[in-house]
Amino acid sequence: MIGTGPYDSLRDYMEAIETHGNVIRIEAIDQDAYELTGFMYKLIDKHGWLGAPSVIVESVKISGEWIQGPIVINQYGMAAHEAMAIGVPLDDIEAGQHVQNYKKALKKMMDIGELSPIETKTIDQAAAPSKEVILKENEINILDFAFIQTNPGDNGRFINTGNLVTIDPEAGRNVGTYRMQIKGPRKIGISPEKGQDGWKFLMNMKEKGEDVAQAAVVLGTDPIVFAMSSSKTARSGQDELEIAGGFKGKPVEVVKCENSDILVPANVEMIIEGEIPLNDLEKEGPFGEMYGYMGLPHEEQFYMNIKTITHRVNPMIVNQFTGVTRGYITTPGEAASLRGFSKFMPELRGFHIPIDHVGFLFLSIEKTKPHQAIELAEKFNFLPLGKIVIVVDEDVDIHNTKEVFQTVGARWQPYPGAKLIEDGPGFFLDPSAKTRGKSSRILIDATRQLPEENGPSPYPKLNREHLIEHAPEIFALVEEKWGHLI
Ligand SMILES: Cc1cc2nc3c(=O)[nH]c(=O)nc-3n(C[C@H](O)[C@H](O)[C@H](O)COP(=O)(O)O)c2cc1C
Repeated sequence: MIGTGPYDSLRDYMEAIETHGNVIRIEAIDQDAYELTGFMYKLIDKHGWLGAPSVIVESVKISGEWIQGPIVINQYGMAAHEAMAIGVPLDDIEAGQHVQNYKKALKKMMDIGELSPIETKTIDQAAAPSKEVILKENEINILDFAFIQTNPGDNGRFINTGNLVTIDPEAGRNVGTYRMQIKGPRKIGISPEKGQDGWKFLMNMKEKGEDVAQAAVVLGTDPIVFAMSSSKTARSGQDELEIAGGFKGKPVEVVKCENSDILVPANVEMIIEGEIPLNDLEKEGPFGEMYGYMGLPHEEQFYMNIKTITHRVNPMIVNQFTGVTRGYITTPGEAASLRGFSKFMPELRGFHIPIDHVGFLFLSIEKTKPHQAIELAEKFNFLPLGKIVIVVDEDVDIHNTKEVFQTVGARWQPYPGAKLIEDGPGFFLDPSAKTRGKSSRILIDATRQLPEENGPSPYPKLNREHLIEHAPEIFALVEEKWGHLI
């Protein structure tokens, strides 16, 4: 059966997208030769980030041994899958129309409006799919599972889609996606960057004099829980699981851990429970990062001693090819950002971080006065991810990167339509930064320049505008008469 989302589990979601016809299955692949990594690069070269299908690998060769998967890859790449996860009706999803599908998902998120939290619902351990198999202490060897080394430059095998669940007695629960380097049969790195809520939670406990933090890593969460764990859609202080429930309109089911009272999503592939020593930080990484470049090793990072693993029979192991594929659905975060920023910037019409062009931030505005574009762009100087900020008029589709770049070529005069900011916050993973965490930035005003901004008068019309003025029905007519050929 194929249905549209939101889905209760990763399995339901994978079944739906496979029924939709967008999954490539591979029986066995040799990752000692990095075949899977090469395969993913070639797949993305051909189809692009938003167009490439998902991949399921049944078995993988690691260190000379064949390990049973399945490994699930690129399940959030296609814009059509994003739309399905958000719950756009299947009839509305257009084959191959990535920009359109993404915009439909975004519209749905905007229509839903601000997400109100819904409390989680605790279910019995016996009813939790994630407790089908329970492994304790010496029974555990995390290396038995199909977690791969993605890139020869990575420092070994990583769990790179784990959702870390930590509890602060005052702040409540935090759920965040961080990579975890496999350091031994019962030891994994825990790598929130400094400044992340996950980092603050652990540092808080350390400062309060705690020696260890009880924590759990949840793997194979459903698309909405994963999106909340991977983004700032839930604001600091909000519980990601309650906001996920708010989106779904029903509580996320949680189950108690075996070793602690932490409540974690129940309908998942695997739960890794353990203790994080708070006074013994150690080296971690490097790992191929989201910019597509090898990251720096962390000198001081947390790690976890694994005490218990519970999992479904034949758990799905999700591997994110970081910097190669899209890692999570982004319309919930984009809608939350647009809604939030619009409260203070009424001229803002669109806010888009093109995830396949890391470093860019696209903004669209309803421009009513000179210099408004740069003034608006400056308000985003606090945002480390926006190193190159492009502001366009609202007639430009900011979800169509090609259209944005064409507009820059046509409407932008580098002088005086740009502002260079010498110094500011930078994204920690940016490979171009001499000092990590710091960056210069450029603000590009690619709106039609008014005469007061040194623009031409009158401003030339688009050829397309001439056509529509001459024949207002032209596109409807072509659709009806010639649509079958297009
Ligand atoms: C697949 C994937 C891996 C990620 N890995 C990391 C990571 O290793 N460290 C990190 O700080 N953020 C990582 N992120 C981004 C965080 O998940 C994201 O910033 C999230 O909002 C952090 O949650 P927090 O604000 O509750 O700490 C990753 C995101 C994805 C989708």
